[in-house]
Amino acid sequence: MAAPPPQMRLPFEPDPECGFCPRLVGFRNGLRTAQPGWHNAPVPFFGTIDAQLLVVGLAPGLNGANRTGRPFTGDFAGDLLYMTLIEYGFASGTYDARPDDGLRLVSSAITNAVRCVPPKNKPESSEINNCRLFLKRTIMAMPNLRAIVALGRIAHESVIRAYGLRLALLPFVHGSQYVLGKESAAAIGALARTKPVSLFDSYHCSRYNTNTGVLTKDMFRAVFAKVRERLADL
Ligand code: URA
Repeated sequence: MAAPPPQMRLPFEPDPECGFCPRLVGFRNGLRTAQPGWHNAPVPFFGTIDAQLLVVGLAPGLNGANRTGRPFTGDFAGDLLYMTLIEYGFASGTYDARPDDGLRLVSSAITNAVRCVPPKNKPESSEINNCRLFLKRTIMAMPNLRAIVALGRIAHESVIRAYGLRLALLPFVHGSQYVLGKESAAAIGALARTKPVSLFDSYHCSRYNTNTGVLTKDMFRAVFAKVRERLADL
């Protein structure tokens, strides 16, 4: 598949040549040689910064987001994610696993805790820590943000750390909802925000979790139903 058209880079995005994580740079360089038509760079945020909902995934999949350049696009996990976003009105159009499928996010946005594809889908702690800068900048740049859905423990912990909060007080639990108050918004530098942000946890919609029944479609739908309810209250 041909590389997607170049997008305008938002100010909080990593440079396409980001060199923060030497292991990931080495992996990326190998992929650029082996698969020159693929994206093979940090995968940018998808959506608009005025969105109310931010979905945070783990990291681009090798043959999915790393190939197509759009989060969860072409990844197994994208099928359930985009289907559910459409069902709850957070996306419109048809998801066809291509960045030019015309799918639009509706007051929602998607990013990853780690922007570059990691070997074996497993980022190291140092890589998660390095990439948090971009997650934090993304959150800071979203003035209307009211809800974050963290897909999996790594996304959850990176969001909590981005807010400067204590993991022990806010553990990852599928189906939980935490309110990240105005104080934590101020701590992250989002001073203009007047309303708190709710953090919703879900098991990651990965092939492994869905095939083993750790996460069913209904469990995943229930998370987005709660987000919808919460946004309606605000
Ligand atoms: N693709 C992504 O972009 N993120 C994930 O977490 C998984 C697949």
